[in-house]
Amino acid sequence: MKKIAVYPGSFDPITNGHIDIAERASRVFDQIIVAVAKNPRKKPLFTIEERVQMIKEALSHNKKIIVESFDGLLVNFLEERGVDVVIRGLRAVSDFDYEFQMDSLNRKLSPKIETFFMMTSESYFYISSQIIKEIASFGGSVKGLVPDNVLKMLDKKFKSLKDKKY
Ligand code: PNS
Repeated sequence: MKKIAVYPGSFDPITNGHIDIAERASRVFDQIIVAVAKNPRKKPLFTIEERVQMIKEALSHNKKIIVESFDGLLVNFLEERGVDVVIRGLRAVSDFDYEFQMDSLNRKLSPKIETFFMMTSESYFYISSQIIKEIASFGGSVKGLVPDNVLKMLDKKFKSLKDKKY
């Protein structure tokens, strides 16, 4: 039986930290479904189509990884796909409370779900999509922190928002 795991997130946008987790997870599982949440709690900078497209481009070389979007509860998405395993990356201690809450809630909603936590590689410990957007919005360079296609999309997005306050 194929071992499949879902790697969910907002990915607004995907960073090299996320890429690292997805690639490493794909060495352990037969297939990874990167599941992009349509309506994360935070108002996203990129549309769902843009986020999915950026991830597809950045991970197109890895045939074990597929990208999909989902709306509503993660447990429902998992149920529809028949998947019981969730992958989440952990950076610092500050991630713990939120991840603990999410894992507990998901298991309350669907007891068979198991979340596997992977430590983010050292070089990406300090990266978050939020900080990437902040730096890019002020014209700073995020080269090396996000895939090159995301770099271009950030540039394009902030140029188009130039007159609006982000
Ligand atoms: O990248 P993020 O923003 O930390 O990802 C969080 C995400 C999208 C995985 C989480 O908010 C989620 O699963 N949202 C779907 C709605 C849901 O199932 N909520 C209950 C569990 S907290």
